[in-house]
Amino acid sequence: NMARPVNEKILEYLPGSRERRELGRKLNELKNEVIEIPLIIGGREIRTGNLKDVRIPHNKEHVIARYHMAGEEELMMAVEAAVEAGEKWRNMPWQHRASVFLKAADLLSSSWRQLLNASTMLGQSKTVIQAEIDSACELTDFLRYNAYFMQEIYKDQPESSLKEWNRTEYRPLEGFVLAISPFNFTAIGGNLSSAPAIMGNTVVWKPSGTAIYSNYFVMRLLMEAGMPAGVINFVPSRGSDIEKHVISSEHLAGVHFTGSTKVFNNIWKNVGMNLDRYRNYPRLVGETGGKDFIFAHNSADIKQLATAMVRGAFEYQGQKCSAASRAYIPASIWEALRDRMEYELGKIQIGETEDFDNFMGAVIDRNSYDNIERYIKFAKNSEDAEIIFGGHVDDSVGYFVEPTVVVTDDPEFKLLKEEIFGPVLTIYVYEDENLMETLEICDTTSPYALTGAIFASDRDVIRDMEKALLYSAGNFYINDKPTGAVVGAQPFGGGRKSGTNDKAGSRLNLLRWTSARTIKENY
Ligand code: SER
Repeated sequence: NMARPVNEKILEYLPGSRERRELGRKLNELKNEVIEIPLIIGGREIRTGNLKDVRIPHNKEHVIARYHMAGEEELMMAVEAAVEAGEKWRNMPWQHRASVFLKAADLLSSSWRQLLNASTMLGQSKTVIQAEIDSACELTDFLRYNAYFMQEIYKDQPESSLKEWNRTEYRPLEGFVLAISPFNFTAIGGNLSSAPAIMGNTVVWKPSGTAIYSNYFVMRLLMEAGMPAGVINFVPSRGSDIEKHVISSEHLAGVHFTGSTKVFNNIWKNVGMNLDRYRNYPRLVGETGGKDFIFAHNSADIKQLATAMVRGAFEYQGQKCSAASRAYIPASIWEALRDRMEYELGKIQIGETEDFDNFMGAVIDRNSYDNIERYIKFAKNSEDAEIIFGGHVDDSVGYFVEPTVVVTDDPEFKLLKEEIFGPVLTIYVYEDENLMETLEICDTTSPYALTGAIFASDRDVIRDMEKALLYSAGNFYINDKPTGAVVGAQPFGGGRKSGTNDKAGSRLNLLRWTSARTIKENY
């Protein structure tokens, strides 16, 4: 019987610490080579020769790896390998499946930790602390909690009597699961692939084109921990090829997705179009976009609020799906808050993430940089808005965007509605007496409902706000920033256009990867 895990401790990387030295060494090592990343299908390395570069976002000329892209043939092979490996894997006692992922967690928390951190810092431009909470801690937590929750699920059995024995058999899905993961968390790639796998499914994993580097090391980690061949198949590839050659497979049993709403909508439609081919209705589990808010009442603690706004909006360059990207602030505290924010923003350093003093690195790639710049320009040219902080971008060395704060007096302003996925926070200042109607505006201006935070000290008001924003967020924070959900403590996911809300790292999520059989036996 496995005890409930404790969360992996976040290391601090203080000057002179052992972890800092080890990480420094690893960063140098990785920067001084150009590795070649194969596909991994059925446990074998496959090289297609269709190669793409991995570059450091904050140092865009620096190539650190080249990876092979899968095409039609390899994707078909991956589906076949997954289906074939499923025969054995589904019959493996669950304790053995758990052992693989628990061993991976152990390796990750010790000897593999700095490889995963360094690859996330270079490949995705995360600062040391952002890498540590992602590729070291959150991934370790996912692996351990999934094993623990699996055990708890299996314990859940119906009543029996002296005359009959009833049981629930938590079968894996019949077929394979397709995992499609994003660039912004290494841990999400690890979880999207390994959560269905621990429940006995086999997986075809398409990592994001801009996180191949760290995700490849996650794959190697799982193999090192003894994951059998074919259980997870690692296939960097194009979305359109996945659609054509994987989603159309009769064996598709589920999709585990994190990424944009637009792509998830396409997947959903595509699955719909292929329904006649499938033996089962595929499980569609998706976490998608967000337009996450901070909503303050005039009883809020201003210092606490300012820190939450700065960290919530700008950590990891605003590229967390949970990042605060709009805020509603009462007029009576605006001036004091603005001063405090300016003070905090003034301390922010941006640059290469190998320098441990930097608070922000670069945004992920050219596309993202251009997109963010378009929004900043839109704000600059608008009569309804003013940029009160930041607003500069610079791509001479890497894709750098300053933390940018926009204030608008139009509650329907474009930047309050659309997901930007970058370091841009838009603030709407409301008259204190308009609290209730502003809450309604917050609830209705964006189609998303991922995370949100309210700040107040008045208990009655907290209750009112919680009620008014009932469906505005799947992860709701009171007096804290809307980012940084911890596995086991704040199961993560949202509704509306933010996803199916099947809470990553929870029983709920793992249950989606089972198709239970109820058995009644008479004596
Ligand atoms: N789970 C992350 C957070 O809470 C976002 O994906 O910040």
